[in-house]
Amino acid sequence: MIQPTSRLAGTRPVPDLVTEIPGPRARAHVAFDERWTSPSLPRAYPIVPVRGEGSIVEDIDGNLFLDFAAGIAVVSTGHCHPRIVAAIREQAAQLIHFSGSDFYLPIYAELCERLAGIAPVDGPVRVYLGNSGTEVVEASIKLARYATGRPCVVAFLGAFHGRTFGSVSLTASKAKYHAGIGPLLPGIFHAPWGRVIDLRWFDDVLFSKLVPNDEVAAIIVEPIQGEGGYRIPEDGFLQGLRHLCDRHGIVLIADEIQTGAGRTGSMWAVDHWAVRPDILLTAKGIGSGMPIGAMMARASLLDAWPKGAHGSTFGGNPVSCAAALETIGLLEGGLIANAGDRGRQALAGLRSVVECYPGLLREARGLGLLLGVDFDTPEHADAVQSAAFRRGLLVLECGRSTVRMSPPLTVTEAEVAIALRIFGDAVADVANGTRA
Ligand SMILES: Cc1ncc(COP(=O)(O)O)c(C=O)c1O
Repeated sequence: MIQPTSRLAGTRPVPDLVTEIPGPRARAHVAFDERWTSPSLPRAYPIVPVRGEGSIVEDIDGNLFLDFAAGIAVVSTGHCHPRIVAAIREQAAQLIHFSGSDFYLPIYAELCERLAGIAPVDGPVRVYLGNSGTEVVEASIKLARYATGRPCVVAFLGAFHGRTFGSVSLTASKAKYHAGIGPLLPGIFHAPWGRVIDLRWFDDVLFSKLVPNDEVAAIIVEPIQGEGGYRIPEDGFLQGLRHLCDRHGIVLIADEIQTGAGRTGSMWAVDHWAVRPDILLTAKGIGSGMPIGAMMARASLLDAWPKGAHGSTFGGNPVSCAAALETIGLLEGGLIANAGDRGRQALAGLRSVVECYPGLLREARGLGLLLGVDFDTPEHADAVQSAAFRRGLLVLECGRSTVRMSPPLTVTEAEVAIALRIFGDAVADVANGTRA
């Protein structure tokens, strides 16, 4: 038993599968869901969760799973952390909505001040709050264009920045995101990503053949590519980008929607390379599951925006702000350090699994609790994701043929050990052509 004090698991071990997977109620629910919901939703496998606590999720059939996907790297403090639940309850009992855009909501400014205090951005910082990742990406494009008076934005091949029109135009992780919806936002260019030598593309191709450097408002970069495959850049790449932006007066935007909020064992992934962007975007883990996104920007940029240039009815909703404030306290109170320790444990274990299956597995990599394992083919990555699910471990594919692990930052040493064992068994299932 991994959590003897767990309210959810009680005396049960985790995982604990009491039906076939998916169970009868899960199968019935999937049939119901597929009748009513948008077929565009990219469901990975048929988990039907009803309760969560820490790294444990109970499904509709009463099965207990170990959750190493964390709602796509969102529940940073674990499912239903008691302090997050209390903060949400307390705020909901006082004021659920008023609109921080049109009125002076105290907790909105309180969260902005707190975020400005931890932003890895030079000089005075100001903050804009949205509801999601894609919304703050949109805000950053608008701000960079407005503040510089320049029309173009550069993103990277392999990048994922969201699904609304501006951010999907920046996205270049999979062609399917652009299928049938064009034309996309004009003035966007995609650069090769990750190696120091790739930076030559800016002078050799972009600025000399495609657009003058003084027409580029911003370069937006994920410090570690997320949906693109949990890819870590070469040392010097992000520093090189910073220099490039300084040379040409370009705004450097770090999209830390997946990498931020402690996930890599540091509050922000850019900290690992001591790079300070002009704008940093956060969402996902910063609200522990409540919808919130934040754009932290150099005040000299945000000061350019006149009244009414941007806003949102729900952005910075008080209940989400309360969850985010509590999340930041928990991250600083030990969860970031835990992410580093548990990440090292997990990476060492994953590398051992990779060594056992050199044909099937290519590489395990990661920083903190952002971990990816590359397979030889997308089919094998998919098969291992499914095998892990049938054995009670939730993981999620990304990139072309990568399985990612992004557990809650509260994950314990024992939970990591169990996840590694199950992952190894799932790989063995696929290697041996067996079905758990
Ligand atoms: C790096 C990055 N940017 C932006 C987004 C979009 O965030 P949201 O789904 O909250 O709009 C995501 C979501 O996966 C992401 O990983």
